[in-house]
Amino acid sequence: MLFRYLFSTPYITKTCTLNKLNRTLSTLPQLSSEKYGVKRKEFGVLKNDDVKFFQSLISKERVLTDESELLPYNIDWIKNCRGQSKVVLKPKTTEEVSQILKYCNERRLAVCPQGGNTGLVGGSVPVFDEVIINFMLMNKIISVDELSGALVCEAGCILENLDNYARERNLIMPLDLGAKGSCQIGGNISTNAGGIRLLRYGNLQGTVLGVEAVKADGSIIDCLRTLKKDNTGYHLKHLFIGSEGTLGVVTKVAIQCPSLPKSVNLGFFGVESFDSVLQLYKSAKSSLGEILSAFEMADSLSIGTTVKNLKLTNPIGEYPFYVLIETHGSDEEHDSDKLSRFLSREMDSGLIVDGTVTAEETKMKSIWNIRESIAGAALHGGYMFKYDVSVPLRSYYELVHVLRRRLRAVDCKVYGYGHVGDGNIHINVVVPEYSKEVYGLLEPFIFEEVSKHKGSISAEHGVGFRKPQYIHYSKDQTSLQLMRDMKRVMDPNGILNPYKVLPDPS
Ligand code: FAD
Ligand code: MLT
Ligand code: ZN
Repeated sequence: MLFRYLFSTPYITKTCTLNKLNRTLSTLPQLSSEKYGVKRKEFGVLKNDDVKFFQSLISKERVLTDESELLPYNIDWIKNCRGQSKVVLKPKTTEEVSQILKYCNERRLAVCPQGGNTGLVGGSVPVFDEVIINFMLMNKIISVDELSGALVCEAGCILENLDNYARERNLIMPLDLGAKGSCQIGGNISTNAGGIRLLRYGNLQGTVLGVEAVKADGSIIDCLRTLKKDNTGYHLKHLFIGSEGTLGVVTKVAIQCPSLPKSVNLGFFGVESFDSVLQLYKSAKSSLGEILSAFEMADSLSIGTTVKNLKLTNPIGEYPFYVLIETHGSDEEHDSDKLSRFLSREMDSGLIVDGTVTAEETKMKSIWNIRESIAGAALHGGYMFKYDVSVPLRSYYELVHVLRRRLRAVDCKVYGYGHVGDGNIHINVVVPEYSKEVYGLLEPFIFEEVSKHKGSISAEHGVGFRKPQYIHYSKDQTSLQLMRDMKRVMDPNGILNPYKVLPDPS
């Protein structure tokens, strides 16, 4: 048994990894409309007068029309989808957003709201010529109440900036994800993003206290309360959490920030089987109790490929499975006591074969960097089919075996990793280049398998453009009809993020 503390591992910041990958677009992805055979709906077509109106409303500098400038706004992070928008608008205030939407609604111009464009299901980029409303300039922090932890900000604030700001005030953001250097809080809310600490701090449906949003017709909905409890009728904020920009656009957010933990530990462990991962999870929950803040797993291919592609260092040896266990607590002695007892028991039991534990910030960052870079590292291997499903824990890893068997004749890598505490596994299928044949082998097969387990076809990334036709595997027809009815009320002309979330009735 080798147990050690980490030595220096190169740390690539998340921001740096994201930017680097986003900017090395060597070949352009195929247009989404051609790749997936979508027909343009009958929306208005952008005219010079429309551009002139936008320029007069928000100034020339904040209206992009140059084709090369538009390119990064038209392509998604995993280079799977490409739209054909002719204009990007960068409003600075809710009033500007309201005026833009009012105009687009009257002119029947379709709109694609866009945050940090880190979404993984094609929801953040247009399919045809939708007007892109990008929120990057709505990035002001409005207030923070250090007593209650309520932080109020504009939708375009980058998650990492908010977290840094909160930390200076002994608070943290309740969510953390690998894209935090680029994703925006408005995008997080619109996708109901999960991330690595959902297990501890809960999901955004609980931590978002209030939102301000703009409806398709330009009317502003002010639900920007900072109260923890408010049972005055329907909880309208939930219309915007996870609706991926199809019911309205989020302009401001009030969110509950937990206290900055005084004591943080992170362990990275080698484990022999997936069954051991599950047993370890059960044991961690009961032994670590309230201090457990993350329990993540990755298989050997996920970690091996990431370390190799990004030239990182795996701090322990090679094992079939890896587990990351993090604790957040308020008393160093108490936490390390609990952790030591848990570790020595599970090393004796053989569930943990090897590992490293650290409380040093740079070393923790290095370990998290390996886990959080899995998605980006896969892009170095070619084209990635990406799935994000939740299934009962006992069946969590089965799908990886099933897919490997199904794809045995194909030149590909299939690997699984994810948020065990949330029952959410990510499966990446990496092929040298996009292939219709592999696509046909994967979909709808994978969703049928998920539905056999009564799982969800999207645990955290959303439905976006890539999954509306499969949503019925997770939603019955009555629920889908209610979704359509809500869409009609909120956006009667269907201008908000068309081709996303809701399946075409035909
Ligand atoms: P975008 O990608 O720009 O948009 C996402 C969706 O939200 C689109 O449908 C868009 O139209 C809509 N939208 C954006 N802003 C607004 C707004 N202001 N109003 C209305 N609609 C809006 N996701 C997780 O859940 N958990 C993870 O752990 C996680 N890790 C990731 C790691 C990496 C490396 C990457 C690249 C992505 C990861 N994601 C994860 C996915 C992605 O980061 C999240 O979905 C994130 O919440 C998207 O935020 P964004 O600002 O980039 O939104
Ligand atoms: C993660 O958990 O790393 C993210 O959700 C992104 C991914 O699916 O790789
Ligand atoms: Zn995830």
